[in-house]
Amino acid sequence: MFTSSPKVLVTGGTGYIGSHTVVALLEAGYDVYVVDNLSNSNIEVLNGIEQITGKRPIFENIDCTDYVAMDKFFTKHEGIKAVIHFAAK
Ligand SMILES: NC(=O)c1ccc[n+]([C@@H]2O[C@H](COP(=O)([O-])OP(=O)(O)OC[C@H]3O[C@@H](n4cnc5c(N)ncnc54)[C@H](O)[C@@H]3O)[C@@H](O)[C@H]2O)c1
Repeated sequence: MFTSSPKVLVTGGTGYIGSHTVVALLEAGYDVYVVDNLSNSNIEVLNGIEQITGKRPIFENIDCTDYVAMDKFFTKHEGIKAVIHFAAK
């Protein structure tokens, strides 16, 4: 059983499907992290997510194919329990 909100990473979380998933996760009480390189989305999407949910996911502009950057991400943000992978490329 979780003692605090479970942490979930959504890659491609500012994209079409990812952003809707982020909204659903935030509304369900998850602590949501987004990794996106904004190659096919806009940072303004985060404002829309915040307007809908009243919460802003933690965002990092990272290319998921960058192993070193992703390794640093998981070191910086400990305790992520699940990853939903929508980053397309
Ligand atoms: N939209 C659909 O109907 C549909 C149907 C079936 C499968 N899919 C798959 O679902 C996934 C998401 O689809 P979508 O429609 O939301 O696409 P999308 O392009 O709107 O979202 C993908 C997001 O991933 C980001 N991204 C791409 N490559 C990245 C990388 N290397 N590192 C970090 N971020 C990266 C983009 O900036 C974008 O925000 C894709 O893999 C797509 O093929 C989509």
